[in-house]
Amino acid sequence: MIIAIDGPAASGKGTLARRLARHFGLAHLDTGGLYRAVALRVLAGGGNPADAAVAAAAAGAVAAGDLADPRLRLEPVAQAASVVAAIPAVRQALLAFQRGFARKPPGGEPGAVLDGRDIGTVICPAATAKLFITATPEARAERRARELREAGEPAIYEAVLQDMKDRDARDSQRRAAPLVPADDAFVLDTTTLDADAAFAAALAFIERKLAAQPPASPG
Ligand code: DC
Repeated sequence: MIIAIDGPAASGKGTLARRLARHFGLAHLDTGGLYRAVALRVLAGGGNPADAAVAAAAAGAVAAGDLADPRLRLEPVAQAASVVAAIPAVRQALLAFQRGFARKPPGGEPGAVLDGRDIGTVICPAATAKLFITATPEARAERRARELREAGEPAIYEAVLQDMKDRDARDSQRRAAPLVPADDAFVLDTTTLDADAAFAAALAFIERKLAAQPPASPG
């Protein structure tokens, strides 16, 4: 069982993915963390995230252990992640890791929830259920600003909103695997929904999908 969750930054897809993984007993992969890990490796080495050769080499070196680094959450790393994510060689280098995780989750779980930008369209096009989680840029910027303040970081709403719009534009307008809903994705707008309501709507969709699946053949 594979659940694909895509959507822009701060749409609520990460929280939803974690909850769905817990509910169904599945592994969870935040694929944005992989692009952030590439960005962090490039920045830590003093490189330019837009340099395709440097970024592709960093992508080739990324491993599961990179995903625990708390610096991945920093805003300059997020911005650099959306720059390296537009480089086809970087996306190619991260493909096998993501598909391998989906096919054979590391903890032996019976499936996985992957969240990102291109899970339903490129990484797992045959996923059991695909969700596209969205919200207005203003609602997402408000959430992100609140998160930053709660983490003790100063956050100016207007600056957060501008960063969000810059990142949306890069993620949606790039040629390589741009952020678009898959044709068969359930589009869920969380602008006026809290986390519980988003979870309930997502769960109802997934359960409808599971009920519509042909039964597994015996033996
Ligand atoms: O979801 P996030 O904010 O952690 O993602 C960081 C960047 O990585 C985002 O701006 C776009 C890129 N990304 C991507 O291109 N494809 C994915 N599957 C996940 C993230």
